[in-house]
Amino acid sequence: SGTPLLDPFGRSITYLRVSVTDRCDFRCVYCMSEDMAFLPKRDLLSLEELDRICSVFVAHGVRKLRITGGEPLVRRDIMTLFHSLSRHLKSGALDELTVTTNGSQLARYAQELVSCGVERVNVSIDTLDPGKFHQITRWGDLSKVLQGLDAAQTAGLKIKINTVALKGVNEEEIESLIHWAHGHGMDLTLIEVMPLGEIDGQRVDQFLPLSEVRQRLEGRYTLQDLPERTGGPARYVRVAETGGKLGFITPLTHNFCESCNRVRLTCTGQLFMCLGQEDAADLRAPVRVSEDNALLTQVIADAIARKPKGHDFIIDRNHSGPAVSRHMSMTGG
Ligand code: GTP
Ligand code: 5AD
Ligand code: SF4
Repeated sequence: SGTPLLDPFGRSITYLRVSVTDRCDFRCVYCMSEDMAFLPKRDLLSLEELDRICSVFVAHGVRKLRITGGEPLVRRDIMTLFHSLSRHLKSGALDELTVTTNGSQLARYAQELVSCGVERVNVSIDTLDPGKFHQITRWGDLSKVLQGLDAAQTAGLKIKINTVALKGVNEEEIESLIHWAHGHGMDLTLIEVMPLGEIDGQRVDQFLPLSEVRQRLEGRYTLQDLPERTGGPARYVRVAETGGKLGFITPLTHNFCESCNRVRLTCTGQLFMCLGQEDAADLRAPVRVSEDNALLTQVIADAIARKPKGHDFIIDRNHSGPAVSRHMSMTGG
């Protein structure tokens, strides 16, 4: 197998996030605008091309693949990709194959994900209030997502709930979300909202620093720092009162770029070296130009060699526009 991927700052790239579609059956207010224009189908990589690129990364030391979107489970025939990628789990080349989803299609796919070697899934839920859920996701149906969670647990999947913390929206609900998630044997991770893509609202008004939330929680609960990481950006604590795990993803208040181990592939074959930067390398052309992986491998190596040190996210009133122009749904977080 090939040379490991090492960036200019000595960080080794072992985690590839793969966005398989820019489409979604929801329209979360912080992620998309109401009238998103989606990519024409002809621009998309085929499932075979996605598999081929993933496999080159695995050959060069990537140990963790996360399938994202948009909503990954709305892509037609998506299970074909999971089945095919699962060979890398069986061969021992890959530690983890997993997915970040809005949960709307989990009831349909949970069992099959397990049969592909998926052990845990991350599901985005910002509120348990059906009205608020509809307000945040615009198009989402909470009961369908809860059925999906049920099916996932029945199938034996471990679940991490992702909650974007929004001032004045779900701020007051954080404690009940903790009790609900931990009561059902699920981890919960809180996320600071990031400025990607023009949305219809103002992110500044909804930005809630998690440093503040953590301080507030410390007045009510005993939070024990956990040293172990999952390979993602979250830092975890154990909540003594519930026994469950609570994560904090704090790009704004506590930058974690120093330990970054990941790059992102979009559904059109753009490789983004950082979630918070515009620079990308095109992998679609080298995939289509030749059956041989030599050129593709070279383009990937050149891209990793220019991975930036970190993001430049800022949320404040003097910076009106988003830090990067593409929407979160292009890179799946
Ligand atoms: P685990 O494997 O469970 O640790 O997952 P993860 O946190 O890596 O992935 P997930 O898809 O659940 O992402 C949760 C949130 O973290 C999303 O909002 C992502 O945008 C954010 N996130 C993941 N990686 C990065 C990163 O490199 N930089 C920034 N700024 N945010 C990230
Ligand atoms: N800032 C932070 N998190 C976001 N997500 C989507 N858009 C944003 C944003 N602008 C979250 C979703 C999901 C994860 C993949 O990214 O809620 O949990
Ligand atoms: Fe869809 Fe996820 Fe974006 Fe919401 S955050 S619109 S569920 S891709």
